[in-house]
Amino acid sequence: MNALVLGSGGREHTIAYKLSLSSSIDRLFWTPGNGATEEIAENPGININDFGRIISFVKQNNIELTVVGPEAPLVDGISDRFREEGLNIFGPESKGAMIEGSKIFAKKLMEEVGIPTARFREFYSYKDARRYIDQISPPYVIKADGLAAGKGVIIAENKESGEKALVDMFKNRIFGDSGTKVVIEQFLKGEEATVLALCDGKNVLPLISSQDHKAVYDGDKGPNTGGMGAIAPAPVVNSRVLGKVVDRILNPLINLFIKRGIKYRGVIYAGLMIIDENPYVIEFNCRFGDPETEAVLPLMESDFGKLLFSTLKGDLSNTEIKWKDGYCCDVVLCSGGYPGKYEKGKEIHGLEKLKDKRDVFVFHAGTKKEDNRLLTNGGRVLNIAAVGNTLQEAIGKAYEHVKMINFEGMHYRKDIGFKGLKHLES
Ligand code: AMP
Ligand code: GLY
Repeated sequence: MNALVLGSGGREHTIAYKLSLSSSIDRLFWTPGNGATEEIAENPGININDFGRIISFVKQNNIELTVVGPEAPLVDGISDRFREEGLNIFGPESKGAMIEGSKIFAKKLMEEVGIPTARFREFYSYKDARRYIDQISPPYVIKADGLAAGKGVIIAENKESGEKALVDMFKNRIFGDSGTKVVIEQFLKGEEATVLALCDGKNVLPLISSQDHKAVYDGDKGPNTGGMGAIAPAPVVNSRVLGKVVDRILNPLINLFIKRGIKYRGVIYAGLMIIDENPYVIEFNCRFGDPETEAVLPLMESDFGKLLFSTLKGDLSNTEIKWKDGYCCDVVLCSGGYPGKYEKGKEIHGLEKLKDKRDVFVFHAGTKKEDNRLLTNGGRVLNIAAVGNTLQEAIGKAYEHVKMINFEGMHYRKDIGFKGLKHLES
């Protein structure tokens, strides 16, 4: 069969790479892609928002599996359009994608079926929200309702910064219309982790857990980014915790979808806070995580193409996923200034030293090829992922190879996996 990947980040490179190894895939397309696309796939160069052209391309090329990387096309209904045309697509219809598209929708679903999450209130005006923070104590967790490219959450340590966040969202519209509805929720203190689960509309099948590192500086300091690196599996998600994630979170969610007639075929991203071995949902996303995917998929031994196809066919109840023993550590290399302003177009050096290294993977994010040179083209530029028998070994191997790469302004966290190591030492 032929397959198409939509998106241009490190997550999509990882997905395309795993599909390129699948025995069930003949031709692989990937658009709009990045500097790595031509190494493993054909790039038709179609804009990801141009659903009409994507659908024509899929029909012309007999594509039987389209995998959507980012959330925006899902929330905008790309899967509904595909299904109207009788085409296969990995990703939920827009009603299901609203678990990410609206925090209020997600919180109400969780409330309805008792999925553990932070207590919350929703607000539609500055005045009401401002009055509420007078009644509760900080830190305040203030979330814009709609999509905000992962930046719509502000944790305010005191009343002044809480007030500023509300002014920014309601009055200055820093998140546009996404911030005109706001959730204020209880602050949860624990350790964060991610569980991605395939969902075929009836059954959920969790992948191994992972742990992102969202803050820009070592020790989880500084502003949040899209993610500076990840490990898999996450030691904080032991088998007891994973069992609770399935029983208390994933199964109730899918049962509610079934009850509401929502056909969810794709992946559910559960962003969790683990407190005393109990998982609470911080957020749901309707897609694979980035950079979690870059740490999880290198450990997958099963055929990824077949697995995604089973998901679309509603076959997950008979499916088991095989994983390599050991761990993966993924380090993200960023442009100078990221997550604030940064420049593009810096030449990337050293990648040739990582070619054909066993258990070391380079997943491109913001890169582009120009005149046979590889240039930076985004905030998160490259992922270096390494697999080892122990977490320590995976981390060591990732950083050993990170050191071989450079571009002007490059920065990265030096402590990816530090929380995982603490668990394993204790
Ligand atoms: P989100 O975009 O919803 O994942 O939120 C971004 C980050 O804010 C999360 O990764 C957490 O670190 C933090 N966060 C969100 N909600 C809470 C909460 N209720 N309590 C503590 N931290 C939170
Ligand atoms: N790593 C965070 C996300 O994918 O939303």
